[in-house]
Amino acid sequence: MRALPGVLVVAAALGSCSEGRPRQGELANPVSWEEEIGPLFAASCNSCHSGAAPAGNYRTTSYLDALGPYAAPVATAGDPDSPLLATIDPAHADAVHQPVSGAFSQAKAWVVDGKLSFFRSGTHEGGILNPHDPQFHSNLVKADGWNFSRCQGCHGDPDLSGGKAGVSCQECHSFQLPSGGAPTCVSCHGSAQSPAPPRDLAGNTASSALGVGAHQPHLFGKTVISGAIACSACHLVPTEVGSPGHLEIPLPAEVTFSGLALADGAAPVWDRNTATCSATYCHGGGAKLSADTAAHLQKPVWTGGTAQAFCGACHGIPPSTPPHSGITFPNCAGCHPRTLTPEGTIIVSGTGDARTSFHINGAIDVGP
Ligand code: HEC
Ligand code: HEC
Ligand code: HEC
Ligand code: HEC
Ligand code: HEC
Ligand code: HEC
Ligand code: HEC
Repeated sequence: MRALPGVLVVAAALGSCSEGRPRQGELANPVSWEEEIGPLFAASCNSCHSGAAPAGNYRTTSYLDALGPYAAPVATAGDPDSPLLATIDPAHADAVHQPVSGAFSQAKAWVVDGKLSFFRSGTHEGGILNPHDPQFHSNLVKADGWNFSRCQGCHGDPDLSGGKAGVSCQECHSFQLPSGGAPTCVSCHGSAQSPAPPRDLAGNTASSALGVGAHQPHLFGKTVISGAIACSACHLVPTEVGSPGHLEIPLPAEVTFSGLALADGAAPVWDRNTATCSATYCHGGGAKLSADTAAHLQKPVWTGGTAQAFCGACHGIPPSTPPHSGITFPNCAGCHPRTLTPEGTIIVSGTGDARTSFHINGAIDVGP
């Protein structure tokens, strides 16, 4: 963490970590979101730029929203040509924005001189909450080798729920850190059982949350119909917290299929908008299973629960393919004895992570 120009970092670190928000930062951050811009935008902009369908698909109701989408921010610290300023500049504003162009000069002071600062602080730099700023707070943790002990010193040891700073990290995160600040794989997501959600990054535990979804049935089985599905079928798995591809990419988490998901030439696609996977090998993608026209549901909804994987969903019972003409359930074990019992129950050995099965193992198993 760096000191603001003109502020004694030692004094800040040792002394000024109080319930209130120290104001030593005025010089470097003449205008900030919390003090001026938040209230100004609430009065001038929120009437149109808020709610479920905001004007221009742009919200001014929180700092992070007002910066614009991560991929296309409306403002860049220090840049007088930022789209945010162009939109409300009295010299250029359209008819919609002329009436609120009085906000321009203060907005300009915030973007250009104030460097989009979040608050006036004697402790942190103004970019602490701006994901595009080098001083964005995750960069501070990264610089400490992803150790949180420095943050715990003021924000609460070990739970980061406020501490002397009086600001809880848990408003936006769901951290569970040990004292000493060195995270484990379940400090930011997952449970004692596994780093897979639940809980997700925001602390959700319900399977209706996108971050939670069907992780548990894949890993631990609800109706157990296969071996354990590895994280690597759907993600690149980091070996340590700082591994490439893990934290430097903005949310959401990346779904990167490999291994079993790609068997038999399958080319799966994750569609976040509809929360569906299509063409995964496991749910009936790949050359052989996609030739079966008796399957009922090969495009499962990640948040749809057990209804998404019933017997007959991924392939017909039996499939429509030639070897099966005249065959009826449960008469499958004659030809698929490693997969099913004569009663038609799927054979799974072992429990938890050590589960194995010939069903959904990447190969069609016929014969003894
Ligand atoms: C009367 C409604 C209204 C008010 C009040 C209003 N806007 Fe807008 N704003 C719109 C509409 C409609 C659009 C999309 C079309 C356009 O650009 O005019 C828009 C678009 C924008 C965009 C472009 C978003 C993008 O991603 O390209 C920005 C930035 C913006 N407004 C900023 C502001 C700011 C800052 C204020 C307050 C100082 C404000 N607006 C007040 C209606 C409004
Ligand atoms: C010297 C005490 C101190 C240390 C160390 C510290 N903080 Fe803070 N932090 C504060 C105080 C006090 C605030 C409240 C705003 C202010 O007055 O600066 C704050 C505010 C924040 C905020 C803004 C949250 C909000 O909603 O207002 C974030 C984010 C943050 N700190 C992250 C961190 C991270 C990450 C670390 C560890 C690298 C850290 N802080 C270390 C004292 C500290
Ligand atoms: C106002 C909301 C907010 C608060 C409060 C907040 N953060 Fe964050 N934090 C974010 C956002 C947004 C990201 C970026 C997420 C992304 O897109 O990857 C982030 C990212 C992080 C990351 C990178 C890994 C991850 O989980 O995304 C760390 C580490 C982190 N914050 C630590 C802290 C600490 C420590 C505190 C408290 C001192 C804190 N945060 C308070 C919003 C917040
Ligand atoms: C500091 C918090 C933090 C810790 C500790 C952490 N993760 Fe993550 N993890 C995240 C965040 C944030 C994401 C979402 C990243 C993104 O935006 O792509 C994530 C995503 C993932 C994903 C999904 C794939 C991806 O990269 O998006 C896997 C798998 C994963 N983590 C495994 C692990 C493992 C294994 C460990 C221990 C080595 C670990 N995580 C420790 C915060 C953490
Ligand atoms: C069957 C596929 C699949 C498997 C297996 C899987 N994941 Fe995921 N994971 C997903 C999907 C889908 C998402 C949601 C991605 C999104 O938000 O766009 C996700 C999201 C995540 C997230 C982000 C949660 C959030 O709050 O946004 C983490 C962390 C994660 N997975 C970790 C893991 C870990 C660790 C494992 C193994 C122990 C694992 N996953 C196994 C499909 C899977
Ligand atoms: C007379 C032997 C026989 C019986 C009985 C039989 N199968 Fe098959 N099954 C096969 C053969 C042969 C294949 C094709 C193997 C290959 O192409 O590599 C196959 C393939 C499959 C496949 C992979 C997809 C496909 O269509 O190729 C599924 C799924 C399947 N069988 C399910 C069943 C079910 C469910 C039953 C019971 C209702 C059943 N089978 C009964 C012989 C049989
Ligand atoms: C989540 C999708 C899915 C569901 C649900 C499913 N299967 Fe399968 N099944 C597959 C896949 C994929 C294969 C392809 C072969 C493999 O990889 O084991 C397969 C193959 C089979 C085979 C051929 C033998 C083999 O192991 O290759 C039989 C028999 C079978 N399934 C029976 C069933 C029965 C009975 C049910 C319901 C209790 C069922 N399946 C539910 C995905 C599914």
